[in-house]
This record gives sequence, C-alpha cells and structure tokens, in this order.
Amino acid sequence: MKDDVRKYIYGAIIAFLAVVLSWIGIVYVSSCGVTLTCNRAAFKVDRTPIPTLIPATLPASGVSLPSAASSANPDTCRVPIVNFVGAWAVSEADEADPFYFVDEDGKNCEAVFSDVQVLFNQPNLRGANSLACVSCHSGDLTVAPAQLDLSSYAGIMAGSRREGNKPKGADLLGDGDWKASLLYDFLINEKTNIPGHEQALMADSLLSVGKPFAGVLPTPLP
Ligand code: HEC
Repeated sequence: MKDDVRKYIYGAIIAFLAVVLSWIGIVYVSSCGVTLTCNRAAFKVDRTPIPTLIPATLPASGVSLPSAASSANPDTCRVPIVNFVGAWAVSEADEADPFYFVDEDGKNCEAVFSDVQVLFNQPNLRGANSLACVSCHSGDLTVAPAQLDLSSYAGIMAGSRREGNKPKGADLLGDGDWKASLLYDFLINEKTNIPGHEQALMADSLLSVGKPFAGVLPTPLP
C-alpha cells in the first residue's frame, strides 16, 4: 500500500520532468534548429552602415556620394558617375589639377582626381554588395586581376596588363575617346563571366561631387 503511493508519486514526478524537458526541447529546436551552437541570444554587432547610391529617378534625398546634396543645393554638382569619370578621363588633367564638366542641372562644374579615386575605393558602386574596385585592382600587381592598379593616379595612368610590373600597360582612358575606353566598357557593361564584373554600374545613379565653376569650360566633354 505504502509502496504503491510512493510509486504514484515518483511516477508523477518523472512524468512532470519529462513534459518540462520535452517542452524546453521543442522551444529550443523551434528557435535554434537542431544545433548546439545556437547564439540567438548573442548581442547584435553594430556595424557602420554602408552608403548606397540613389537612383536619379528618385527625388534627391540628401543621401548621395561623396557628400550630400540635392538639386536645390547650389554649392555642389550632380552628375551620373560614368559621365563624371569620363570627364576626368578626357581632360587628361594632372593629379592635382581641376577638370570640368556640366552637371545634370546644366551648371558648369569642377572637380579633381581625388574625387574620382574615392569612387574606386568604395564598395557598392555597382549596386548593393559590390566590392570596391581597389579590393581586386590593388597596387599589388602580382595579385591584381589584369595587372590593373586602380588604387592611385599613377596606377590608373599606367594602365592594365602590366605583366612583371612593367611601367606602361594597355591604355584605360580611351585617349580622348571615353566611350571607346576600357574603363568605360568595364564600368557600363555587365561581364557575366568575370568575377567582380557581374554587375554593371548603375548608369543613372547620380553623384554629388565637385563644385560650380564660374567661367568658360576649357576642356572637351565626353
Ligand atoms: C572581384 C574582383 C574585381 C572587382 C571588385 C573589380 N574587378 Fe575589374 N576585373 C576583375 C577581373 C577578374 C578582370 C579580368 C581579368 C582578366 O581578364 O585577366 C577585371 C578586368 C577589369 C578591366 C579590364 C582590364 C583589361 O585590360 O582587360 C577593367 C578596366 C576593370 N576590371 C575595371 C574595374 C573597375 C573600374 C572596378 C570597380 C568598379 C572593378 N574593375 C572591380 C576583377 C575585379
């Protein structure tokens, strides 16, 4: 009699524990899956947001590169990236000298090479998650694809295909004919079979760059 009561009590306790454990198991598996390395409760890592380009068709919202601007801002210029790089390429301006372009609002504008370099140094130029040009085309020609160094003025001027570090390679800038240049081709066209070039540049993304120039434009424009 006494033993029977004890059996019932132990039975009840074991059944209760079994229910609790399986409940915990269900909760764990449903939130973590079948894994022992669940880190759902880990703190979220705060990351610096990566800047993105806004398509030209949207009203300028002030999140553009490299500095914020809108059509209403008279102190900066708005220009599609490919036109901007092209204006620099045909200008053949020295590294520190200004070059000129006409922006989306018809303003005469000026900028310098470092404004162009910024573009090659930053990710997402060709849409979300695209790598910075320089992460592949770095100054180390032993690893840079096509022996192309986009990390400096000298590197860009020296061109691509510089096997064995030779000082001069294939011209990138089209020798005055921007649309015939290698750089234009590799910015504007998708190259589905070349890693890093699956996406083309967002052709209509506007850049906020440079400053208005009061004067007659001295260089041919692309
Ligand atoms: C993920 C790596 C990667 C990234 C990022 C990348 N490229 Fe390339 N790029 C390549 C590869 C690979 C080739 C082809 C190499 C070959 O044909 O031997 C190439 C070729 C080129 C060429 C042609 C050179 C030639 O002589 O044929 C140009 C110009 C170029 N890239 C410019 C750029 C620019 C501008 C960017 C940034 C907007 C960029 N690349 C980003 C990997 C990359």
